[in-house]
Amino acid sequence: MVRPTLQGLPAASLPHGFGIRRFQPGDEANWTAILVAADQLNPITSGLFRRQFGSDDRLLEERQFYLVAPSGEAIGTATAWFDEHFEGGGWGRVHWVAIVPGWQGRGLSRPLLRAVCERLAELGHVRAFLRTEAGRPAALRLYRSFGFQPFIRQASEAETWKHLGAPVESFIRAHGVPQLG
Ligand SMILES: CC(C)(COP(=O)(O)OP(=O)(O)OC[C@H]1O[C@@H](n2cnc3c(N)ncnc32)[C@H](O)[C@@H]1OP(=O)(O)O)[C@@H](O)C(=O)NCCC(=O)NCCS
Repeated sequence: MVRPTLQGLPAASLPHGFGIRRFQPGDEANWTAILVAADQLNPITSGLFRRQFGSDDRLLEERQFYLVAPSGEAIGTATAWFDEHFEGGGWGRVHWVAIVPGWQGRGLSRPLLRAVCERLAELGHVRAFLRTEAGRPAALRLYRSFGFQPFIRQASEAETWKHLGAPVESFIRAHGVPQLG
């Protein structure tokens, strides 16, 4: 999915007592625990964090966020990442969004996503993309309500979005892509 601009982000505020902070040394274990609890579709292994984000902790301090419960426990995460190879480069990437199941359904995902999108803009990105799957209904609803649009490059993706009820004006790559409808 893509958000062709990072301007005009929807409002989102955290309930009292919750916080959002950046990566700190030792958060690799928190990240892995959150993803193990939340992500039912990807195999989350102990080496995944470094394979995804590399070994430069300064980059993580700049780009990775944790949602913190009133107790101080890290209960969610999302990363304001990048991918120089996506569609000519320059895009920020919303990467590895997850909230521990016991804390889901309380409106905490929107302020977390907003923090990531704001950070991408601060870091100089003017647009953002993310990868997701049809089997993630809460995530799809969250992203669409936040202004992310389907990005369709193949007929199979067009079919999937059609089943999910995507609007016809979906953001479609210029060449070789069938129209929805
Ligand atoms: C994606 C995720 C972070 C969202 O956090 P959350 O606390 O569940 O978010 P919310 O409760 O605010 O739900 C977001 C929206 O999805 C809706 N939703 C929740 N569960 C749903 C479901 N099973 N089916 C359809 N919609 C659902 C909510 O009603 C809400 O929409 P609304 O604001 O219009 O009411 C969380 O569900 C999660 O960690 N999922 C597992 C990991 C994952 O899929 N990550 C995304 C990878 S791309």
